[in-house]
Amino acid sequence: MRHLFARHAARLKRAGLATAVLAATALGAAVLPGAAHAADTPLRDLASTKGIYVGNAVAGGKLSGTAQYAAIAGTQFSSLTPENAMKWGSVEANRGTFNWAEADQIVAFAQAHNQQVRGHTLVWHSQNPSWLTNGNFGATELSGILQQHIATEAGRYQGKIYAWDVLNELFNEDGTYRTSLWYNTLGTGFIANSLAWAHQADPAAKLYINDYNVEGLGAKSDALYNLVKSLKAQGAPIDGVGLQAHFILGQVPSTLQANIQRFADLGVDVAVTELDIRMQTPSTAAKLTQQGADYTTVVKACLAVTRCKGITGWDISDADSWVPSVFSGYGAATLYDESYQPKPAYQAVATALGGSTSTASPSPSASASASPSPSPTATATSTPTGGSGCTAAYSVSNQWNTGFSGAVQVSCPAGASLASWKVGWDFGAGQQLTQAWNATCTQSGVHVTCTNATWNGAVPAGGSASFGFNANWAGSNPVPVVTLG
Ligand code: XIL
Repeated sequence: MRHLFARHAARLKRAGLATAVLAATALGAAVLPGAAHAADTPLRDLASTKGIYVGNAVAGGKLSGTAQYAAIAGTQFSSLTPENAMKWGSVEANRGTFNWAEADQIVAFAQAHNQQVRGHTLVWHSQNPSWLTNGNFGATELSGILQQHIATEAGRYQGKIYAWDVLNELFNEDGTYRTSLWYNTLGTGFIANSLAWAHQADPAAKLYINDYNVEGLGAKSDALYNLVKSLKAQGAPIDGVGLQAHFILGQVPSTLQANIQRFADLGVDVAVTELDIRMQTPSTAAKLTQQGADYTTVVKACLAVTRCKGITGWDISDADSWVPSVFSGYGAATLYDESYQPKPAYQAVATALGGSTSTASPSPSASASASPSPSPTATATSTPTGGSGCTAAYSVSNQWNTGFSGAVQVSCPAGASLASWKVGWDFGAGQQLTQAWNATCTQSGVHVTCTNATWNGAVPAGGSASFGFNANWAGSNPVPVVTLG
């Protein structure tokens, strides 16, 4: 069954006090009326009308620390994958000592935004803690450790994960099994066992095997196909195949759709799980156009196969992408540029999902007159408090005919800090808060009060914390005076 998601739209933009006027100007010019997609339908809503989800990989620190990143993550996508937070090395760096903070944060963010979560990943050869890789464990002990790990992690998030990448990157390019901690000690038995343990821990989660260079037909994809076929024949709980899709410009496999189809025909779901399309940097207009065409090919291939459930991009913007650090000389692989502005690839994806978007970023005035939605007049305002010098700045980051998204950034100058914070304002024109993230907000009458989330109460000297919200408006949407205290 296809998953449909309620429509929520939110974008926010950093606007600190020190740069309040500048920020307001920059917002107007770069993001508000002028941004090509500011008033357009979010990708998640377009995808939902086509019966698929659209997701992205996220890091907790950026969700709470980079306002534009959080806004895009919360607004545009209906699914999130923790980029690193659920990997073994992240959750259990020291044996028996667990750190769930970032994974919990991402799950909470997703829930607050009515998003599903793809759990990534339980069994992998990479990003494991050194106590595990250097432990020289025998087969019985290692199998017990793996079982315990899967039970603990999948159990912790039981009921909150749409799909788990239970197993990641099992094969070599020629289709033989990759030598790894698991394969070397346990043979292939860990594969079916891991699926069974994950199913026991979270019976509702869809269980996937995920890999790269299996997107088109070929030896590696054949190996995965044969594995899934034999797992199905054994009655193992395998629900899906994840195609990572870390592509190179102009090299999306021509057999992508056929390959998706053959997995679907085996009786499993398929998802594009880590899509990015890298190019040699610097980018050019021609390369960015080609990239849009490549993204379109991927979206169309997924839409063409009923069991292709969704597409997850790997990293929100080119500033966040893992590509430049791993593929020397390559970058610009995502939908947003390093300033969080949508690229031609964003427009291409929106169009492939049935949306109509502008193709260029018009000037604010041109866009304002062309836009069916009233144009927000974002400004930032703030009120210093009790001598501490810390301030709160409010901005409208996106506005459409009935709703808008806003952001508040709490900033402390050198020499001042906060252990917790509370921000308030009056909505003087009948605006009504509908949703907030990275803070707990309530509205009573016209007054809105927001207190910090558990993880972002501490604002260090020279640092900041930010949160976002959605609200309804009608008539006018003036920027309120904000108090911090
Ligand atoms: C990458 C992350 O994006 C990086 O931040 C990290 O340093 C290394 O891992 N295949 C996967 C992902 O399944 O988990 C990888 O993510 C990218 C390749």
